[in-house]
Amino acid sequence: KQRVFSAMQPTSDSLQLGNYLGALVQWVKLQETHEAIYSVVDLHALTVAPEPAVLRDRTRRTAAQFLAAGVDPERSLLFVQSHVPQHAELAWILSTFTGMGEAGRMTQFKDKSAKVGESGTNVGLFTYPVLMAADILLYDTNVVPVGEDQRQHLELSRDLAQRLNTRLGEGTVVVPEPHIVKEVAKIQDLQEPTKKMSKSASSPKGLIEILEDPKKIAKNIKSATTDTDTVISYDEDAKPGISNLLRIYSAFTGKAIDEIVAEYEGKMYGHLKVDLADVVVEALTPVHDAAMEWIESPERLDTVLADGAAKASAIAQVTLDRIYDRVGLLPAL
Ligand code: TYM
Repeated sequence: KQRVFSAMQPTSDSLQLGNYLGALVQWVKLQETHEAIYSVVDLHALTVAPEPAVLRDRTRRTAAQFLAAGVDPERSLLFVQSHVPQHAELAWILSTFTGMGEAGRMTQFKDKSAKVGESGTNVGLFTYPVLMAADILLYDTNVVPVGEDQRQHLELSRDLAQRLNTRLGEGTVVVPEPHIVKEVAKIQDLQEPTKKMSKSASSPKGLIEILEDPKKIAKNIKSATTDTDTVISYDEDAKPGISNLLRIYSAFTGKAIDEIVAEYEGKMYGHLKVDLADVVVEALTPVHDAAMEWIESPERLDTVLADGAAKASAIAQVTLDRIYDRVGLLPAL
C-alpha cells in the first residue's frame, strides 16, 4: 500500500471550511486506499508564539476535529508532532541540506515576515518548511493531501528528498507527490472572494468555522460578497464570490457545477445562498457534535493520540536511523 501523510497546525479553536474541504475530507477518503498517517503539528504552531494553555487546548481540539470528520484511528495513525521526537531531529539534518536562498524564496515566509516586520519574525518561521519536509520524509510518504497554499512547501520537500537521494544514495528517502484537488484546493474568503479563506487572515465574517454556531455559519453565507450581476453562473475572474459558493455547494452535494447552475437558472443569488446555508449546516452539524464528544472526553482522545505516537515513532526511527547512518553520525553503543 502507498502511504499518505498530512498535518494541520493547532492555531485556532475551530478549523475553517478550507481546511475541511481542501484537506480533511481528502484525508478521510485517502485512508480507504492508503496507509494513512495524520498529525497535529504543534511544533509548527510555536512559530506564532501562542499562549501555552491555548496551544494545549487547540492541540486537542484539532485532533478531535480530525476524528469527528472521519479519520478512523482503527485504520489511520493520528498523533501530535511533539510526541514523536524524530520530527525535530530530522528537521536539523534537513536544515543542513537547505540553501539559505531556497528557504528565503518561500512565499509564505515572505508574506508572514513582511506583515510582522523583521523584528517580529523568528528563525522558526524561516525554517518552518524544513520541519514540514521532515514530517513528510520520516514516513516514506508517497502522497501528501493539502490545499493549494502548501504547493511550494511541498516542492521544497521534493527537492530535499531528491537531494538526499543524490548525496546519500538512492533509497535514502521517498520523493513525495502532492495531492491537490483542484475544485477544493482554494476555498475563498466569503467577504473577500479573491483571497483564500484563512484562520489568520480572514475576518470573522469571511470564515466558515466548522465548530461555529449553525446560525452564524448560515448568516455568514447569506451575507457573502457577490457581484452586481444577477445571473448565477461560474466565472472565477468575473464572479469570484458566486463561483466560490458554487464550488462549496458542489463539494458538499457531489453535484457538478454545471448541474447546479442549470438548477438555479432564473433564480436569484439569495436563493442559492439560502440553500447553500442549509446544505453546509446539515453537513457540518454531525461533525460539530462528534467533535464536541471527543473534546469532552480528553482521556479517550489522549489514548488515541498516545497509541498513534507510539506507532508513528517506531516507523520514524527506522528512517532516522538510515539517514543518521548515511550522513556519517557515529552510532551510540
Ligand atoms: P494549515 O494548518 O495552515 O492548513 C491545513 C490544511 O488546510 C489547507 N487549507 C486550505 N485548503 C483549501 N482552501 C483554503 N482556503 C485553505 N486554507 C488552508 C492547507 O493547504 C493545509 O492542507 N504547513 C501546513 C501544515 C503542515 C503539513 C506538514 C502539511 C506541517 N507539516 C506536512 C502537510 C504535510 C499548514 O500550515 O497547514
